[in-house]
Amino acid sequence: MLDSGRVSSPIDPLLAAYDAEAFRAQGHRLVDTIADYLGATMRGAGPVLPDVPPERTMASYDEPFPAKPSGEELVALVSRVLAQSNHLHHPRYMGHQVSAPLPMAALCDMVAAIANNGMAVYEMGPAATAMESAVVVWMAERLGLDPTKAGGILTSGGSVGNLTALLAMRQAKAGHDVWEEGAQAKLGVLVSEQAHYSVARAVRVMGWGADGIIPVPTDARFRMRADALGDALAKARARGIKVIGVISSSCGTSLGAFDPLEAIADFCEGHQLWLHVDGAHGAAAVLTAKYAELLHGCGRADSVVWDAHKMMCMPALVTAVIYRDGGHADQAFAQQAAYLFSKNVHDTGQRTLECTKRMMSLKVYATLRALGTDALGAYVERMFDMGKRLARLITERSRLELAVEPDCNIVCFRARPEGLAAPELDALQARIRRQLLDSGEFYIVQTKLPKGLFLRVTLVNPLTGDADLIQLLDRIEEHASSIASRGVGSS
Ligand SMILES: Cc1ncc(COP(=O)(O)O)c(C=O)c1O
Repeated sequence: MLDSGRVSSPIDPLLAAYDAEAFRAQGHRLVDTIADYLGATMRGAGPVLPDVPPERTMASYDEPFPAKPSGEELVALVSRVLAQSNHLHHPRYMGHQVSAPLPMAALCDMVAAIANNGMAVYEMGPAATAMESAVVVWMAERLGLDPTKAGGILTSGGSVGNLTALLAMRQAKAGHDVWEEGAQAKLGVLVSEQAHYSVARAVRVMGWGADGIIPVPTDARFRMRADALGDALAKARARGIKVIGVISSSCGTSLGAFDPLEAIADFCEGHQLWLHVDGAHGAAAVLTAKYAELLHGCGRADSVVWDAHKMMCMPALVTAVIYRDGGHADQAFAQQAAYLFSKNVHDTGQRTLECTKRMMSLKVYATLRALGTDALGAYVERMFDMGKRLARLITERSRLELAVEPDCNIVCFRARPEGLAAPELDALQARIRRQLLDSGEFYIVQTKLPKGLFLRVTLVNPLTGDADLIQLLDRIEEHASSIASRGVGSS
């Protein structure tokens, strides 16, 4: 509390905001507000994505910041923010691969924010460092890597994770010290077109240009064709590119297709190439007995990326970058900052792009301890099973077309009323999606496939049920026939 006799100064409101008792009272009100929000959202009340046209939303946040305290209630502001946000806990949220976070994990994030242990050096996050190590070792073991040799770090997202692993690959495989000497050869990696765009971005960030991405064709189920790797490698070499690795997807983003890791690992071993597995979405399949097969061969990967904020119910962001040989973790950023890093192996800052980073291990560690590993495995299995059930429901309806039998919980399909040609079909899907969003009933996304535009659903919310799936398909068919009957071109 402030000294009552003190002269009022501009810093007083800030000092008052540090008061522990004020925090307690504010925190209780805030948690009550969030719990009310969660209760209603998880019951499916209200729209999934509120009607928030950008102009209106922008306008509601454009008031100038006051020089003096405004007296605006934090709880009131948070209520407004929540009301204007996409409701990922709504059972009919089925859009991008972002989880409906476990409330307890969100509370852990609050603790992480308060402790604010930056973690670059062990001293700035002793507990965070220990929990991070435990989580990474556990993940490595589940992936089939030898936990006594594997190592890695947690970082802020799959995109940063892919870049980090590719930097380690570059240092290990370029044939010279790229970190010190810069690039001396045209480097490249073999990648299927189903890979997430962050891979192509990482390649360009590293300065390899468009030539650094050597495309590998996929099969009818959009999985990388391991039998086409040799040809792609030979062609790239003929163009003077030194190919140093293969980037496989477990699974690809658009359709959730899992590449055949065992065959790809054979190829990598045969040609001394680095195997990177982008398991941002699908690595969690190893937590199930039923779907672990999709990752068969992963234990032979040199590096793996696994996003816990996708299929482990964690709030964003928390991504593991795991190396089969933990020593590679130190190669991604070979730079030494004398003022920071001693030779302490527990200084994780040497292994990530980040200097200060969040204590992101707490939420994963605490959840695994509190709920047990089986619960997360059961969650993944439930969502993958549900993806398969949705696919079956789609194939039972003659006016819907499944893009491909799904490997997991990402399902692409489109409405296909009779008599519509390709451009009209694309326009139809876009309009169906728009209507679903405008009505607030569902949140789904869309993706461009070789055959055209498809609706895309990712089932990430454990509260979604079969009734929601049936309702989704009913609504899509209704919208499709009403739009088609009025002409796709008209509004
Ligand atoms: C396969 C894959 N890799 C990487 C990413 C990027 O992850 P993040 O959004 O955490 O950066 C995604 C995102 O959807 C993905 O699907």
